[in-house]
Amino acid sequence: MQIRVSSGDAASLETGALVVPVFSDGRLDGAAESADAAMGGGLTEVLASREISGKANEIVLLHAPAGKTKRVLAVGLGDRSKFEPQALVKYAGTAVRYLGKRNVHSIAFALPLEAQHQVRLCAAYVIEGALAGTIDTTTYRTEPDRPIVLEEIVLVTSAGSHEFEAHALEEGAARGRILGEAVNLARELAMTPANDMTPTILARKAEDVARAHGLTFHALDEDQMFQKGMGAILSVSSGSDERAQMIVIEYKGDPSSKEKLALVGKGVTFDSGGISIKPAENMHEMKYDMSGGAGVIGAMSAIAQLKPKINVLGIVPASENLPGPRATKPGDVVRAMNGKTIEVINTDAEGRLLLADALCYARELGATRIVDAATLTGAMVITLGHAAAGVMSNDDAFAQHFLSVAAKTPERYWQLPLYDEFSQTVKSEIADLRNSTGRPAGSLTAAAFLKAFVGDTPWIHLDIAGTAYVDEASHQAKGPTGTPVRAFVAFVEELAKAPALKSNGATAAARS
Ligand code: BES
Ligand code: MN
Ligand code: ZN
Repeated sequence: MQIRVSSGDAASLETGALVVPVFSDGRLDGAAESADAAMGGGLTEVLASREISGKANEIVLLHAPAGKTKRVLAVGLGDRSKFEPQALVKYAGTAVRYLGKRNVHSIAFALPLEAQHQVRLCAAYVIEGALAGTIDTTTYRTEPDRPIVLEEIVLVTSAGSHEFEAHALEEGAARGRILGEAVNLARELAMTPANDMTPTILARKAEDVARAHGLTFHALDEDQMFQKGMGAILSVSSGSDERAQMIVIEYKGDPSSKEKLALVGKGVTFDSGGISIKPAENMHEMKYDMSGGAGVIGAMSAIAQLKPKINVLGIVPASENLPGPRATKPGDVVRAMNGKTIEVINTDAEGRLLLADALCYARELGATRIVDAATLTGAMVITLGHAAAGVMSNDDAFAQHFLSVAAKTPERYWQLPLYDEFSQTVKSEIADLRNSTGRPAGSLTAAAFLKAFVGDTPWIHLDIAGTAYVDEASHQAKGPTGTPVRAFVAFVEELAKAPALKSNGATAAARS
């Protein structure tokens, strides 16, 4: 795919389609205005007729009667005063899904005037959204849908803009391409059926990514995990013939620093619930239970290419959760890597078991900060639905920093309180901890359980159970969304830019 930048006359572009933004105020500006002029006011007419009102993601296709551009697609961007760059992910994704299915391979995107102050970010989001729009979910059919092929994307700013703007657009587009590909990688890993995405296959995919981008890779097999005392993850995999893997990818962007951020992602390639088996309805969706892990692998691929000055570990504890003859039974007590004993009340609360060992391992590997992402609790879907992922942390300033960075991405996060009393709730009568408590505050007690394995390392837990996948297509296909790749990458880049963070610790830096 070629990416070009143009600040010329939008209507004279030789392209399959020109996409123009329409806000709900109905006022055309920049490239949209010149396209309108070239069409003899065709767009103005459509707006006046109220065929499109400018609401987010509304679309109208015009077959351009004038100029070189064959088609003009008007896409709604909502309220002009509330415009945010991340809205362009939907703008571009909607356009690509509409036009791509109609055999258009070359698309020019006009940026709204509102983009002027943040061209780099806006360009990145257009490219990222366009790429996210191309994913094919029908590859298992003997006759798959015709793939969406993007041969060329042109980013168009208003005529006569400055040269530095073109440069910023190009930079942003390059970042957007890396991010879009990383998001799609994570989505493709997550959407692959569990019979084709076992822990071993996931480890091989992670190794491919590491090798392609010059990152170091290792994966502990079950014998090595046993040697390290990782009885928690092994208690999950024991019910399956598939062997668990502790996958580790490392990026060393700042060799002179001892600071190391660990991104840890739950990698349950299929969650049947184990002996505490789940009901059949929607159980097939549990092939997505490795979305956090897929997000880590996707993020590491982007980080390797963006090369921020920071050390990052990516850790994915991968396992199936099945009720085989060696399966852990409710009531069994297992021992995690840090020696803590866990009474397994419910074998369906497996994510926290595998994460327990992964968090301990992150610290052994030198992590000085940890962010984990997991499709951890059904309770999270009850709390925030599919609107946002939950954020829980043992370090408020660190969490605030994450939230402020993530707010500039298309992913949504919302902090929930991790009160000390939840740490009491997860205590067991007969062991140190129990993996399941009552129904109250299910996402928070899960987080309190994880907290017992991070010690005093600043740590953020993201429960992405409600946002990792969607069951309706919108600007991207239904299925995995790529959450948390965008937030992970943005946060890593931001931490790399903040030297104060390294000398003063998270708390001081995030407050300043
Ligand atoms: N993977 C599930 C959580 C989940 C549920 C993710 C629905 C996405 C959609 C997790 O392993 C699980 O089963 N959690 C249990 C925990 C309970 C037994 C304490 C749950 O949420 O019911
Ligand atoms: Mn489960
Ligand atoms: Zn699970």
